[in-house]
Amino acid sequence: MSSPMGSPAPPAAGRAWAIVAAAGSGERLGCREPKAFHPVAGVPMLERVLDVVSRVALDGIVVVVPAGWEESARASVGRRFARAVVVAGGASRRESVRLGLGAVAEDAEAVVVHDASRPLVSPDLIERALAALAGASGAVCAVPVVDTLKRVEGDRIAGTVPREWLWRAQTPQAFRAAALREAHARAAAEGIEATDDSALVERCGEPVVVVQGEERNMKITTAADLALAEALLGPREFGGAAGGLA
Ligand code: C5P
Repeated sequence: MSSPMGSPAPPAAGRAWAIVAAAGSGERLGCREPKAFHPVAGVPMLERVLDVVSRVALDGIVVVVPAGWEESARASVGRRFARAVVVAGGASRRESVRLGLGAVAEDAEAVVVHDASRPLVSPDLIERALAALAGASGAVCAVPVVDTLKRVEGDRIAGTVPREWLWRAQTPQAFRAAALREAHARAAAEGIEATDDSALVERCGEPVVVVQGEERNMKITTAADLALAEALLGPREFGGAAGGLA
């Protein structure tokens, strides 16, 4: 397989594309710009994610940003992916990914979806998600729940929920392209929203497997998350050089 991204190992899943969902507003973070454009230790989340994605062998990438932010995104994306496609997202994450899928090449066999709000993702995690497609229609990175879970009504504990089967889903999530397209088409037609793509593929009855995720691959939602992510990032952790793009 040729890789226009000029990256190392080819994925096991055939022609693979990535969709980076970056069209959220970031209201809960309290930033003026869309969240994906907000810096984490000096580098915008979207650039951090693209830096990681650029180390995975992929045939193409689609970056979904809020309407009106396409040009800013093209400026930073173009530095790493001359052939990346930037499209405007929608009102929900589900709609943004559906719009991104519309820009994925027809001959793509696998699509890995990643949220820009998880900039501490690793190339290895993306590759493991794609590799897990060998035996399934979808592969979801997730980590087991370690806390004891309580069901709470008002201020009263109404019960303790067994945690042995519970995992916290992350992105990246990799899918057979046909299964993801079908799942999104059905969800759009039926007006179904979901907080991840796996839920849409699952409801079509397709087999989805879990891939051991990384605790470090945290999601940045609040200012406290941002502070934690910055603490986790070492000074050298961007493109092998401190302080910005090489
Ligand atoms: O809001 P939340 O952090 O849960 O969003 C998860 C991911 O989905 C983020 O990377 C965000 O940019 C993206 N998103 C999107 N389009 C939306 C809402 C969220 O691409 N309308």
